[in-house]
Amino acid sequence: MSDSNGGMTGKLPLIRFTGQLRKVVQQWRRRGHKVGLVPTMGGLHEGHLSLIRLAKKHASRVIVSTFVNPAQFAPHEDYDSYPRNEERDWHKLVSVQADAMYAPDVHEIYPHDFSTRVEIAGITQTLEGVARPHFFTGVTTVVTKLFLQCLPDFAVFGEKDYQQLLVVQRLVKDLNFPITIVAAPVMREQDGLAMSSRNVYLDAAERAAAPQLYAVLRDMSADLSAGRELEDTMRQGAARLEQAGFMIDYLQVRDAETLMPFDEEIDRPARLIAAAYLGKTRLIDNVAVTPAPAN
Ligand code: PAJ
Repeated sequence: MSDSNGGMTGKLPLIRFTGQLRKVVQQWRRRGHKVGLVPTMGGLHEGHLSLIRLAKKHASRVIVSTFVNPAQFAPHEDYDSYPRNEERDWHKLVSVQADAMYAPDVHEIYPHDFSTRVEIAGITQTLEGVARPHFFTGVTTVVTKLFLQCLPDFAVFGEKDYQQLLVVQRLVKDLNFPITIVAAPVMREQDGLAMSSRNVYLDAAERAAAPQLYAVLRDMSADLSAGRELEDTMRQGAARLEQAGFMIDYLQVRDAETLMPFDEEIDRPARLIAAAYLGKTRLIDNVAVTPAPAN
């Protein structure tokens, strides 16, 4: 613990500034490495680590950013209390053999005269975008910055935040970023609860109820794939969640690519997507729905 980064440099460089990041990436490129970026907000858990393991399959050098992005939190949300533990994150990154940790200060990302917003229409204006109106602009602005600061060959995003993944894919396509987006499946606890930095907010009773979100989504998906009527399935799923103590923010089945709703019949690959509160904690989850075979 002899240096200014509390000893967190030896095996894994802890990078604070864009200039340093660029230099490191340039050196790797010159040596012929493929570079992958895994953007996170720290509070690292197995879900994040699975993204890094996947990144390591595609690239010979992997950078993990852990910047907690204030622009994607509304004033009433949990920016101040969001779980932060840089040293713990650093040790986890050593354990999965990441090659660099990028943890810039908020002023490095947003200097006092910062004036740009990257805003995407359409796909951001539904589901999470309705519940949290500033969220996606915060995400696309910071992801654009991280992409341009790091200039990776590819970046990994989790299906846990399914709409965010589609939004980032849109961003890359619309702005011609020469970056490949790789999607990673949802990592779950043994009881099915999707891993999330926010799960630490759940008290014991809430934690016991939480796996019901996935259990209900999975049953609904099976019913829909078996050809059960859409409205009926949605109504019953919502009732089950409410019985388990959830306050539903949204529970929807949408086209897996466009997030457009279905009228009656699910005739294309779809995604069941939900956000629901247990007490004060907001959980999100989603599962794939395969269309029922036409008869
Ligand atoms: P964060 O919530 O920390 O998530 C970082 C990445 O990890 C996202 O791509 C997310 O989908 C993925 N992830 C989280 N939990 C997962 C799980 N259980 N299984 C698989 N992947 C999981 O998402 C963000 O941060 C931010 O919005 C960010 C993109 C970093 C921009 O600030």
